[in-house]
Formats: sequence, structure tokens, C-alpha cells
Amino acid sequence: MAYETIKSETRGRVGLITLNRPKAMNALSQQMMREICQSAEEFDVDGKIGAIVLTGTEKAFAAGADVKEMETYEYSEAYIHDLWSGWDRMGRIRKPLIAAVGGYALGGGCEVVAMCDIVVAAENAKFGQPEITLGILPGMGGTQRLARSIGKAKTMDLVLTGRMMDAKEAEACGLVSRIVQTTNLLEDALKIAEKIADYSLPAVLAAKEAVVEAFETPLQSGLKHERRLFHASFATEDQKEGMSAFVQKRSAQFKNR
Ligand code: HXC
Repeated sequence: MAYETIKSETRGRVGLITLNRPKAMNALSQQMMREICQSAEEFDVDGKIGAIVLTGTEKAFAAGADVKEMETYEYSEAYIHDLWSGWDRMGRIRKPLIAAVGGYALGGGCEVVAMCDIVVAAENAKFGQPEITLGILPGMGGTQRLARSIGKAKTMDLVLTGRMMDAKEAEACGLVSRIVQTTNLLEDALKIAEKIADYSLPAVLAAKEAVVEAFETPLQSGLKHERRLFHASFATEDQKEGMSAFVQKRSAQFKNR
């Protein structure tokens, strides 16, 4: 499918989505939202793909929802069309989503980062929820996903002051998985994605499903769900291969990749 606001390509077993409105700091227009979700869904059902990387430019992952597009919106329009609910599609992607973040990840950009499973940040990355400076509040999960992942105190600080935090602070509070050199950002993120794509896909999908469950359910149901998925993993040929490869001191050749 031809996209106008993103680039969508494959690198081996990895699907790579590059946000591509550099002149507008990758501001997330409605079209861009649809294209990102469409591309992620295509990779999700593509049997040759095992993980998805989402990135921007060195200057900006995404500087937020497109303020120029939003400026004239009215309440009734936003409510009737349930604007931005399209982002919920990202929450239904079953394969791992890896954000490779360089430069600004602000507002909706930071919220897209929080939708991802692994966040690789360049040393120059900056995160924030500056909506308050525009007279609005986050609307794509900033108050919810962030509060669950980095806690109330840090979320309140970001959401109420609109300040930015650097990559080190974002790693310390748990938004970022790893910090890498700015020049190596994409390469390092792709390496992580390739490593995941080399494992057994059913195991990868179940592992992601189990971790996501931790944000949705009370502990006892989450533990039960995890145990059932764990039991089910013994029904896969990749479990047999993975364990016999370990016992035979060779590397595993998973069939379901
Ligand atoms: C539209 C944007 C934009 C945005 C930048 N641009 N961010 N356009 N929407 N979110 C445009 C600028 O208008 C400018 O266009 C060009 O990108 C370059 O930006 P500059 O400001 O000139 O660059 P710089 O001085 O380097 O500053 C970078 C920046 C700043 C710190 C990222 O642009 C900024 O503060 N952007 C807005 C951040 C923000 O408030 N985001 C939250 C949005 S609300 P021209 O045409 O002048 O060259 C949101 C809500 C989410 O995200 C929830 C929705 C449901």
C-alpha cells in the first residue's frame, strides 16, 4: 500500500515504520495515525515478520498531534467522530512494537512511545506531555499508560508542568528500555527486533500477551493467565526444539518464526 506520511518497509524479518513529515517535526496528523496503524496491522498479519520498529528522524520521533490540524476543531466534531480513538488499533497489535526514539517525543509522540513494548532512546531524546501549555490535556493515553508505567508522581509532574525530560531521566523512571548513541539508534533498535524475530513466534506473542495483561488485570488473574499460556507453550514444536537444543548444546532452529 502507498503511504504519504510514513515509510513502511521490511528489513529481513522486521517491519520498519518511519514517520515521515520531517518539516513538521513528524506532527501526528489524522492521516498519519491511520497510516501508522494500517502499516502495523499489515506487519502483524504478515507471517514473515516477527517484530515491528517505529522510528522518526534524528530531530523528532514526533512532536505531538498536529496542532495546526487541531486548532479549529470543535467539541461536537471531536466527540461525534471520536477523534483519535483510531490509536486504539495500536493496542491490538500482537507482535512486539519497538520504538526507536531520537529527538523530540512530545504529547501524542510520547503517548505513541508509551504504546510500544520496548523503547530504545537516542542520547538526544526528549520526552514530555506539553498539552497543558496549549490549554488541553493528553488524549492518547498520556494520563493512563504513563501513570501505569512511570507512576503517579512523575506523570503528574510531566502532565501538569509540561516540562521535558531527557533520555536518562526517562530510562530511570521506566519509560525507556535502553539508551544508545544517537548515531546508532536505528541499527541498535533493528538488532533488538531481529533478535526477537529469530525466536519462536508463538512464544513471543504469548510473552507479550502475558506482560500486557499485567496492565489490565488484578495480580491473581494475571498470574493465572500467565500460567495457562506457559502450559500451552508445551504444545508447540518450538518448545521441544528449544529444550532439546539446550540439552544437546546446539543453537535452536525454531520452526514457527
Ligand atoms: C504541528 C508542529 C508541531 C506540532 C512542530 N511543528 N510541532 N506542527 N503540530 N505538534 C512544526 C512547527 O510549527 C514548525 O513549522 C516546524 O514544525 C518546526 O518546528 P519549530 O518549532 O520551528 O522547531 P524548534 O524551534 O526546533 O522546536 C521544536 C519543538 C516545538 C520544541 C518540538 O516545535 C514544539 O514545541 N512543538 C509543539 C509541541 C507540542 O505542543 N506538542 C503537543 C501537541 S498536542 P513551520 O511551518 O513554522 O516551519 C498533542 C495532543 C495529543 O500532542 C493528544 C491527542 C488526542
